[in-house]
Amino acid sequence: MLTLQILKRELQGDVVLLTLADATGAELPAFTAGAHIDLHLTDDLVRPYSLCGDPADRYCYQLGILKDSQSKGGSLAAHALQEGESVKVSLPRNLFALDEGAAHSLLIGGGIGITPMLAMAAELHAAGRVFSLHYCARSRPQAAFVAELEKAPWADRVWLHFSDEQRIDLPAVLSDVPANTHVYVCGPTRLMEAVSEQANAAGYAAENVHQECFSAEVEVSGKAFDVVAATSGITVRVLENQTIVEALAQAGLKVCVSCKQGICGSCLTDVIEGEPDHRDSYLTDEEKADGDQILLCCSRAKSARLIIDL
Ligand code: FES
Repeated sequence: MLTLQILKRELQGDVVLLTLADATGAELPAFTAGAHIDLHLTDDLVRPYSLCGDPADRYCYQLGILKDSQSKGGSLAAHALQEGESVKVSLPRNLFALDEGAAHSLLIGGGIGITPMLAMAAELHAAGRVFSLHYCARSRPQAAFVAELEKAPWADRVWLHFSDEQRIDLPAVLSDVPANTHVYVCGPTRLMEAVSEQANAAGYAAENVHQECFSAEVEVSGKAFDVVAATSGITVRVLENQTIVEALAQAGLKVCVSCKQGICGSCLTDVIEGEPDHRDSYLTDEEKADGDQILLCCSRAKSARLIIDL
């Protein structure tokens, strides 16, 4: 965990740009494009945000955060942060990394989903790799980062699509590309679904289509199962609408939790036996496939019994 100081700038479209730096000016842990950090807004309010700054800049992390009226508190709390204040953040973690072998990277950001694409474009440009970036927004006045895109050294690789002028022509954008193009999309669900469908129709391999979605809506219910906390010698039944954390708490075993949404990793626990049913967005696909760790706040078991190291 890092404690960083805030610089704050309001952008158009109800977006705030937070620049987080060490108070002593020290270098920060490196990150690669597509990475996010978890912002600890209060003790039990933790939200992941994509890093939108240049990964080559080792002295700050930048986050673009939309003020969302539907928010459950995260974006409003982030907008309420004050310049000069300190905030705790996790180390960067990348679940949306660029594929090194892509002949062409097609970046599509919708609304605030432009943020990871900014870091991706900077990294691809620095590496001399071929890419194009499409930014979709409702209108120019509601689109943050337009000025940054227009003055970027890679501005000639950027296409802007405003719904009140002309919407993106996805079939054309997805088909007018070289072989082994990888497409990256982040934004509203309907944009991500449309890109995924069109990419499928255009013959993209599934592994060439990458999506970033941070969902605060985790489905935590499912079939009941037993959990054995091996070290504590406690066995509990986890009911259909209960989480493992809740079932263990009823038996007097408290698990340290923070986000309760499978985002922050606070409740990560080793699995000794049994098959986890992962519901989190913290573990990578490879880590999930290993099956030897589980997030107790939201994940469940596919097997009738799960033995955990607790
Ligand atoms: S409490 Fe954050 S992942 Fe479980």
